[in-house]
Amino acid sequence: MKQPIIKVDNVSKEFAVGDKKIRIIKEVSLDVFPGEFVMIYGPSGCGKSTFLSIMNGWIAPTIGTVTVKGEDLYKKTEDDRSRMKQHEISLMNQSSDWVKSLSVIDNICMPYLLAGKFKSAARKRAMTLLQMLHLERYAFYRPMDLSGGQQQRISFLRSLINNPEIIMADEPTGNLDTSSTAVIMELFSKINHDLGRTIIMVTHNMDLLRNASKSVNIIDGRIVSVNENKDFEMNEKIEAKDVLEIGFKNIVKDTSEEEEEERERSKVG
Ligand SMILES: Nc1ncnc2c1ncn2[C@@H]1O[C@H](COP(=O)(O)OP(=O)(O)OP(=O)(O)O)[C@@H](O)[C@H]1O
Ligand SMILES: [Mg+2]
Repeated sequence: MKQPIIKVDNVSKEFAVGDKKIRIIKEVSLDVFPGEFVMIYGPSGCGKSTFLSIMNGWIAPTIGTVTVKGEDLYKKTEDDRSRMKQHEISLMNQSSDWVKSLSVIDNICMPYLLAGKFKSAARKRAMTLLQMLHLERYAFYRPMDLSGGQQQRISFLRSLINNPEIIMADEPTGNLDTSSTAVIMELFSKINHDLGRTIIMVTHNMDLLRNASKSVNIIDGRIVSVNENKDFEMNEKIEAKDVLEIGFKNIVKDTSEEEEEERERSKVG
């Protein structure tokens, strides 16, 4: 029988606020299988980000278990859990969490350096990633000097640098226009479809749910429905290939190409 890559079993989470305890996640269970593209949606404040953080090892549940690749995530030592976060699961956060004093390329390098790798190798990998999305010219900008869409693409690249098996993303298309959203979605779909990487994404954009293998609706801390998409083509085989080996260039145009076209159009006009 197929084994889930992530299994959430009867998880609840309480936070202490003053002298009260507030239950934010309530008896939630979910199976995520290798190669799935899961989307989580629900109203603001319903617990989506908290749930994602519980699944990726940042917030321990008050009760219940999270099993990743057959191992209880919160029974691991702190060190082993950190190693898993560095090597197997990556997270693209809801708000941009840049080290503001560092350049774009060094921000992308961070997870790789934290995993104990050398700076020269990190820089090389980060530059290859930037080239994949035609963003190399921004390597030495500060992330905050880029547009929202560019920052999301950089954040996407940073989440790939350690070649993770599971990629989690919290509203990666929040605040983006339709065309930037389409680009980000294509990038995730390609990683999912071509390399069999498992993706779990939080979104408030209902139009995106058709890209998912499974849509999970959370309301007030509970999963109220899970819809399987029968048309979804699942790649269950995790390809050993490095994410750096796949091509994105047909998805994202070189900005200079766009500028060229814009100039041509204005000439015609
Ligand atoms: N550390 C904490 N201590 C106390 N309350 C918290 C903590 N973290 C989250 N909460 C509360 O849990 C609830 C759910 O927060 P969460 O960020 O998970 O919601 P969300 O569904 O991601 O919302 P949004 O769509 O706005 O991002 C909120 O009411 C929030 O205030
Ligand atoms: Mg959130």
